[in-house]
Amino acid sequence: MNEDIYILAIESSCDETAASVVKNGREVLSNVIFSQIALHQVYGGVVPEIASRKHIEKINQVITEALTQAGMTLREITAVAVTYGPGLVGPLLVGVSAAKAICFAAQLPLIGIHHIEGHINANYIENKDLQPPFLALVVSGGHTHLVIVKDYGVYEIIGQTRDDAAGEAFDKVARAIGLGYPGGPKIDRLSREGNPNAIHFPRAKIEEAVYDFSFSGLKSAVLNYLNGCEMKGETINRADVAASFQKAVIDVLVAHGVEAAQAYGFRKFAIAGGVASNSALRGAFAEACKERGIAFYYPSPIFCTDNAAMIGAAAYYEYRKGRRSGLDLNAVPNLKLGER
Ligand code: KG4
Ligand code: ZN
Repeated sequence: MNEDIYILAIESSCDETAASVVKNGREVLSNVIFSQIALHQVYGGVVPEIASRKHIEKINQVITEALTQAGMTLREITAVAVTYGPGLVGPLLVGVSAAKAICFAAQLPLIGIHHIEGHINANYIENKDLQPPFLALVVSGGHTHLVIVKDYGVYEIIGQTRDDAAGEAFDKVARAIGLGYPGGPKIDRLSREGNPNAIHFPRAKIEEAVYDFSFSGLKSAVLNYLNGCEMKGETINRADVAASFQKAVIDVLVAHGVEAAQAYGFRKFAIAGGVASNSALRGAFAEACKERGIAFYYPSPIFCTDNAAMIGAAAYYEYRKGRRSGLDLNAVPNLKLGER
């Protein structure tokens, strides 16, 4: 296939309304993101109904802007890709409906994409040399997955969280120490002023599934620590709590990641998802991978948190395989990775 492939991609699974045009899977011509964070901040988290309504209001504007910035019209687009799961059903439906309407009107092929597949594929955008197979860690607000990327679009999950996702733990701890939503970036920033060894929080290990994760015990330990301080009338050093909590999360993610890479013999390791933009996490992985001679890949922060360029990157490989979705494509809030 010699002709250039231009994918118009749409992402609306949570609180970002996003559209992008991606050329041949790796060249981002536009990446428009309307973030609803300010809208949800007063509630301390994403309110699904409010998110759906805002997506409806913004989706056409964001898509038009993505085409304009790419200097393209629908006539030059090869296919339209959209996240159809997992995520919040209302927000997903807005993106899926918009994509289907465009495909119907402009007679374009439609490709439904798994949100986590998008996160993993974000690594292809800036790492032009990266090719499967490799091991990937997806750490977002809803997922913590250790995934073998066997080939483009072919995945095997070897570890996942038993309870809270890594990002969820960041958000809950941030709320407990009064940082507000979204917690991850705030804990990231505050941790730089704290001592990561000030408080010892637990690192969970699951005997029968060594690559699985559990963060609810850590979250409870932080809450107990805060309550204990309050009862004893001790002042809380929030920066120390943030840094010590963050280190506990990072220690587990890095240990599981590099142990799995070595056990399975991977020389390439990639991180993805919102939490992958955490500066201390990136530093810890870079060091651990370097020590073991493993090449370490990570997207720029803008491609770690939710965006549509990653959906366009994933859709390119699906398009080349001939995978198309029908106009009966529906939102699937609990879609499993690898499921069609
Ligand atoms: O991938 P994403 O944008 O959305 C989901 O698919 O969930 O991830 C959002 C999550 C939130 O929990 C947010 O707190 C976390 O990623 N996050 C971070 C950082 N930036 C975003 N966590 C830690 N450090 C960061 N710098
Ligand atoms: Zn995401």
